[in-house]
Amino acid sequence: MTALDIIIMAAGKGTRMKSRIPKVLQRLAGRPLLHHVLGQAASLQARRVVVVTGHGATEVEAACAGLAGAGGTFDLKFVRQEPQLGTGHAVQQATPALAGDGTVVVLSGDVPLTQAATLRALVEAGAGERLALLTVRLPDPTGYGRIVRGEGGTVQRIVEHKDANDAERAIDEVYSGIMAVPAQRLAGWLARLTNDNAQGEYYLTDIVSMAVADGVPVAAHCIGDALQVAGVNSPAQLAELERAHQRAQAAALMEQGIRLADPARFDLRDDARSGARGEILCAQDVEIDVGCIFTGRVELGEGARIGAYCHISNATIAAGAVVHPFTHIDGEKTGAHVGEGALIGPFARLRPGAQLGREVHIGNFVEVKNSTLADGAKANHLAYLGDASVGERVNYGAGSITANYDGANKHRTVIEADVHIGSNCVLVAPVTIGAGGTVGGGSTITKDTPPGGLSVARGRQVSIANWKRPAKQVKG
Ligand code: UD1
Ligand code: CA
Repeated sequence: MTALDIIIMAAGKGTRMKSRIPKVLQRLAGRPLLHHVLGQAASLQARRVVVVTGHGATEVEAACAGLAGAGGTFDLKFVRQEPQLGTGHAVQQATPALAGDGTVVVLSGDVPLTQAATLRALVEAGAGERLALLTVRLPDPTGYGRIVRGEGGTVQRIVEHKDANDAERAIDEVYSGIMAVPAQRLAGWLARLTNDNAQGEYYLTDIVSMAVADGVPVAAHCIGDALQVAGVNSPAQLAELERAHQRAQAAALMEQGIRLADPARFDLRDDARSGARGEILCAQDVEIDVGCIFTGRVELGEGARIGAYCHISNATIAAGAVVHPFTHIDGEKTGAHVGEGALIGPFARLRPGAQLGREVHIGNFVEVKNSTLADGAKANHLAYLGDASVGERVNYGAGSITANYDGANKHRTVIEADVHIGSNCVLVAPVTIGAGGTVGGGSTITKDTPPGGLSVARGRQVSIANWKRPAKQVKG
């Protein structure tokens, strides 16, 4: 196979997005559109990738730094195109940065869903010596460049919509914006482009008639799936592609046996904070109810059940665990773990470093951060556990909190096995509650407590018999 270089056009403004963010940095599944396209380049094992930037160039370049393919597989370069005088002019800026041999594939930074297999087939159609165009038939081809064929169906040229006559506009086969070109021909053709057309632009598509004139065969590789070449121009199109992508991810997961209540209400995204790819690794008989969002790497053990409207990021949920609706689990970079058979939520919040053992129960409005809960521990209502080590079978009462922060430093709370913490307690860290001990409701505990004992730290109750409430004075 001949060497492969890729040019990604990403200089356009994307006016219709009505956004300050450059179009190619708008996100699909949590990742900039341009990263999706660079991912395609990586799977094609490109030798070099040249990204043509213009609008928001500095931002676009910064967003791609260190992204030379998943494993640094290609050499990534940027060239600037200012002003933007058309797609032919864009490619002209890029050719000096290429080696000049092999095949050049031209992609757009705003077309995120092209499959690697499609691009490979296009490159094969070009065979290093033909000009290969990726085309698609559209029920409504308005706005696109049309594929004009001559005698015997051979491709003659591409005519842009704005330059086309009525007969040409009736053609439903359109150019996708993606082509594979023999590198040795490219610079020569580009040098002959003019901007003598309806838009006053240098059209890359004009090289097709030059190829025909030079006796270079032109192949049209026509695909049936328009989504693969759909570009993002507006928020509505972005949402449409997002949904299509999510449907495809959902279908792939269902293929593995995961049961989604509704594949149309499922989202798996990359984690923008860590750059972790969105992926779900799951065992058998996993069920996910509607409206859940997963980001980064999530592992779901056998028989795990995720209730409706949960958001789960970078976490492992062990076999048989049940996460009830509206639960937020975010392991960020540290990770979070829910043990076998645990019951979480509804409305629970697990933060980085939450490590829950088997059969742990975390109920509504309970927040757990950087804390270990051993097997069978329970915190069922309205509570906070931060920087705590909680022993087996501990029962942590409603409204209780660990006061882990003294305004400057964080301190740990140790709650040994079989402790009962009553309701509305404040455990002021650093502090240790001895094994089997009980803390009376409403206590503020500032000193370690002995194992097996009862600790109460609150004002004693006073009851005054037959007490008369003050009455309102009646003015006479
Ligand atoms: C282009 C094709 C058209 C095809 C359509 C598919 C040309 C002349 N026309 O039209 O045949 O059907 O794509 O979507 O190529 N860009 C630059 N610099 C520029 C101009 C564009 O980098 O000076 C980038 C844009 O950011 C975008 C891509 O090139 O990523 C395509 O540009 P766009 O203006 O969308 O092309 P169309 O007019 O839609
Ligand atoms: Ca245009």
